[in-house]
Amino acid sequence: MRGVILAGGKGTRLFPLTAVINKHLAPVGSLPMIEYPLHTLTKMGIKEISVVTGGEHFSDIARYLGQLHPDINFSFHYQPEAGGIAQALALVKHVVGNEMIVVILGDNIFEDDFLQAAKNFENSSFGAMFFLKRVLNPGRFGVAEIDGVKIIGIEEKPKQPKTDLAVTGIYFFDSTVFDKISKLKPSWRGEYEITDANNEYIAEGKAGYYLVNGFWSDAGTMDSRKSCEEFVKKGLESNVLRSLSANVEIGKMLIESFGANFKP
Ligand code: DAU
Repeated sequence: MRGVILAGGKGTRLFPLTAVINKHLAPVGSLPMIEYPLHTLTKMGIKEISVVTGGEHFSDIARYLGQLHPDINFSFHYQPEAGGIAQALALVKHVVGNEMIVVILGDNIFEDDFLQAAKNFENSSFGAMFFLKRVLNPGRFGVAEIDGVKIIGIEEKPKQPKTDLAVTGIYFFDSTVFDKISKLKPSWRGEYEITDANNEYIAEGKAGYYLVNGFWSDAGTMDSRKSCEEFVKKGLESNVLRSLSANVEIGKMLIESFGANFKP
């Protein structure tokens, strides 16, 4: 499967951290935020990754990822305005072709591993797979309603959530996602919502869901970024540093930064 990281948007909820840098390069622990969703993809063995970003920071993200991850085959795509997650995803249509894709939001941090779920998806008749997590503040997210093993609907940021099941920012899709997106209309907030495309899969009876294990949060607000920092310090940050230092040149530079005792 090809990976897609969506790293556009405005990042206004992290101002002033985002005053002059792209939100996904803002630090979470010792690493830029985007390292964590990227790690989620590379743990799945994914080496072909499309990254969508926008604004004046487009080349910063491309330069950073190109330098730090020479073993990954990236394609970079420019989103001229923050018109929504679905609009951002549509920009990779031409590189995806008929492949299945794993889409991850560039501000989402997961403890879980999705390799087995991806294998199951590839051997299934599902067209989309969603990953749900019980949360205390569902109204901030897409909220799923389920009936046993079936997912029956998703509402984007409902005022009165029907459940506490947030739709997290990792999605598996077949290539029909692009047809679905092409038929979307902007929502009340003027964005092309991935939730609307997701509900198309549900209406077709082609959507499944999993419950996410362990920690999950976005890092897109001051509070959520803080809880992500607390979580990554318990081990994920070291795991990412360890995989970065597998590249000898980068390993040397990490020792220069962290000191001779650097043992992630
Ligand atoms: O974090 C999970 C939630 O993410 C889901 O539960 C929601 O259903 C989904 O709509 C989304 O909600 P947010 O309001 O948190 O999304 P946000 O606008 O913060 O965008 C999340 C990421 O998506 C952001 O880090 C970069 C990417 N993005 C977003 C927009 C609006 C783009 O690449 N382009 C965009 O135009």
